Amino acid sequence: MISSKDSSGKNLSDSGSVIPLKTELQIRYRIAELAALLAEEYRGRDFVVVGILKGAFMFAADLLRRLYDLELYPDIDFIRAVSYGSGDKSSGEVRIELDISIDVKDKSVLIVDDIVDTGRTLQHVKELILSKGAAEVRVCVLLDKPSRREVECDLDWVGFEIPNLFVVGYGMDFDEKYRYLPFITTIEQAGGN
Ligand code: IMP
Ligand code: MG
Repeated sequence: MISSKDSSGKNLSDSGSVIPLKTELQIRYRIAELAALLAEEYRGRDFVVVGILKGAFMFAADLLRRLYDLELYPDIDFIRAVSYGSGDKSSGEVRIELDISIDVKDKSVLIVDDIVDTGRTLQHVKELILSKGAAEVRVCVLLDKPSRREVECDLDWVGFEIPNLFVVGYGMDFDEKYRYLPFITTIEQAGGN
């Protein structure tokens, strides 16, 4: 648990007060399992991985390395979708700030995201990619907070289900901080929430 009063974000991994929700090791093992499950689906097929920035950068990078170990070599692209303003409150709308550049027409696309909360970001990105003519769009997310869902979205592969906690690390931020943490922890907001 991190207090957001510690806005420097420094030395968190050295601090005894940080209790990971998911340790580096837990994440590494689960990603290897996810890669094996993905290999059952995608072995011998062409597909495009689309990571959702910024939050999924670390998960996508680690997952792609495990896919490589299993001889899966997808094309890779990224899309930048913004659904959160400052802090941890969703604006309720999704903006695309950077679109994919690969032509996904008639291709199989695997969307990779860090966490599904309301489901709005994923739903929006999925519809956008389908509207570009993708033959198939499937979804792999590291974390799922099912209790927060506002729009229905099918998740094909999920790393971990977590309770309604605001988490940071492993690509995920609070006000752009803590993305660098190699593990996932919860954030206790100043004044509670
Ligand atoms: P959704 O559109 O509400 O599902 O939110 C999805 C995006 O918001 C995720 O891809 C994250 O980037 C961000 N997000 C949702 N929950 C958290 C959290 O607990 N910590 C950090 N970022 C989050
Ligand atoms: Mg995200």
